[in-house]
Amino acid sequence: MIISRAQIDSVANLQSNIYLLKAYSPDLVRKSYPGQFVNIKVTDGYFPLLRRPFSICDVEGDYVYFMFNIHGQGTKFLSTKAKGEPIDLLGPLGHGFEVDGNYDNAIIMGGGLGAAPFPFLTKHLSNKNIITLIGGRNKNDVITYGMKNVHTCTDDGSLGLKGNVLDLLKSIFPDVTGKSRIFACGPTPMLKALQSFVKETNIECQMATECAMACGFGICQGCPIESSHDHETYKLVCKDGPVFNAEDIIL
Ligand SMILES: Cc1cc2nc3c(=O)[nH]c(=O)nc-3n(C[C@H](O)[C@H](O)[C@H](O)COP(=O)(O)OP(=O)(O)OC[C@H]3O[C@@H](n4cnc5c(N)ncnc54)[C@H](O)[C@@H]3O)c2cc1C
Ligand code: FES
Repeated sequence: MIISRAQIDSVANLQSNIYLLKAYSPDLVRKSYPGQFVNIKVTDGYFPLLRRPFSICDVEGDYVYFMFNIHGQGTKFLSTKAKGEPIDLLGPLGHGFEVDGNYDNAIIMGGGLGAAPFPFLTKHLSNKNIITLIGGRNKNDVITYGMKNVHTCTDDGSLGLKGNVLDLLKSIFPDVTGKSRIFACGPTPMLKALQSFVKETNIECQMATECAMACGFGICQGCPIESSHDHETYKLVCKDGPVFNAEDIIL
């Protein structure tokens, strides 16, 4: 883990409320792995005091990318950054996706901003048969940037299948088998539904979770998630996750 005084290269508006921040940070790039995150100090002042966590969206050369939407004050500040401005990045943090293993099909499933870690993940899965399933409430919510072999769905039917990503999986891959591994990131109801599905079908599944964080590296104990193995024990999302095996956590 390092604190990198990185330099903004650009903040581009990808679509509707979604932005892509590109920063020069060779030291962070060298240490990063898909599914890990960075705790960003969004201004040089005291407000907002807490850093904000963002998935490492991609790396390219000496540059790291983050994808975000304007949610509150912190992300609003981020969206106004200009080329050449410094930015303080703490990371890489957490435990990312495990891509090695004996499986053929890498099924990437995401909803909304859950798509953020997938461009980097896609690069690390280049020796697998990738199937990417992306959903959103409507077509403006569907993010496919940096992904391969993408199928889409929306709640309102404005793009792709009308339904959720699990409906999409069942429709295009009805005989999904043990030679597959699912990599998921998205809203908790989506992850919960997926957890039940993989339990029934016995498919390996790793999921990136989210919660409010203060320190981001295991000191404040403010990001617990219940373990499914030992009764009433907790893991920390920032340190033990944010990526967990689906069977290891209770959502
Ligand atoms: C591992 C991880 C990865 C993420 N990746 C992405 C991503 O790639 N893209 C993306 O858009 N979003 C991502 N998020 C969500 C992102 O961190 C939030 O959207 C962001 O923090 C919103 O900040 P804000 O200031 O704009 O919004 P606000 O809603 O204004 O900020 C959050 C509010 O909660 C408060 N708060 C934050 N943390 C705490 C805390 N620990 N305890 C008490 N109060 C707190 C803040 O002070 C603030 O008031 C990720 C979250 C996690 C945990
Ligand atoms: S955010 Fe502090 S322990 Fe996880």
